[in-house]
Amino acid sequence: MARFLTGIQSSGRPHLGNILGAIIPAIEFSKDKENESFYFIADLHSLTTIKDGALREEYVRAIASTWLAFGFDAEANVFWRQSRVPAHTELAWYLNCFTPFPMLANAHSYKDKSAQLDDVNAGLFTYPVLMSADILLYKANWVPVGKDQKQHLEIARDIASSFNHRVGEEIFVLPEAKIDERIMTIPGIDGRKMSKSYNNYIDIFLPENELKKSIRRIVSDSTPLEEPKNPDTDITFQIYSLIADEDQVRDMREKYLRGGYGYGHAKQELLGLILEKYREPREKFDYYMRETGELEQILRKGEEKAKDIAEEVIGKVRTKLGFS
Ligand code: ADP
Ligand code: TRP
Repeated sequence: MARFLTGIQSSGRPHLGNILGAIIPAIEFSKDKENESFYFIADLHSLTTIKDGALREEYVRAIASTWLAFGFDAEANVFWRQSRVPAHTELAWYLNCFTPFPMLANAHSYKDKSAQLDDVNAGLFTYPVLMSADILLYKANWVPVGKDQKQHLEIARDIASSFNHRVGEEIFVLPEAKIDERIMTIPGIDGRKMSKSYNNYIDIFLPENELKKSIRRIVSDSTPLEEPKNPDTDITFQIYSLIADEDQVRDMREKYLRGGYGYGHAKQELLGLILEKYREPREKFDYYMRETGELEQILRKGEEKAKDIAEEVIGKVRTKLGFS
């Protein structure tokens, strides 16, 4: 039995990049009955950037609804909000006091974020320690994450092994990153990596007319309609290929190469594909966003499970450190 654990920050509504790059692959792992999946919403991490409470609540609901819309079985696994299990913050404080300052000062993500953001707060600095606490609290074996999180996993392993060594007991399990090198970086509508921070994302849960508008904004070159086009350099084609099946991709490729097929046509087909392929997730997403009581019930059940499981590790840590 291997335990998988991952979190997604509630710093925006999930976009196609998050869904194809993180949510769907993690749900696939959770379908293997040999695995236990612990998937949570990292709402405390989102406080490093988002200060507005009402906005955070909306994003938390949107992220939770997305996991459920794509078929995550919250009943068979563990699904919760990080902030509702106080052991995360408690353990994070203990671990802070075992983390060498230079290790955090050298973290790439801190260096990148502090160079870009106006609000360079201490939470941003100790972000990897809270993330380590999230993972170590539940003795996770595998942590599915994107490549950008690799160093955070190394930090979690370093903290875990030095803590175990200092207290003379293997309290923490050393986690491993599960990075799927095959998962492509999904391009955004401007061709850069699709990201909330670049405002270049496609929100597949938008109502049809708004979804259409964002697809129309996908950048393309100015090759006239009649002329053949290069599918391999076109963003609409790239996004389409990530969602469509082989036959559909082959057909669209031929249309590009043949000419007489405009980018507007391709965008219309992409819209049609998203509406058809994600019809059920779109309906379920709307359902959970509307039925807030039901969503709350599901999360609370998950929180109870998470609290019980976290008790073992946090209890041992308290005892070792003289806080019991
Ligand atoms: P964002 O860049 O929009 O802020 P996050 O950093 O919150 O996204 O990422 C959440 C998860 O989604 C991570 O596991 C990340 O690897 C994945 N992810 C984000 N953007 C993409 C993308 N464009 N392509 C593939 N995976 C992505
Ligand atoms: N830092 C992760 C991200 O931005 C989110 C996260 C928080 C996380 N805690 C975690 C991921 C624990 C895996 C495990 O994508």
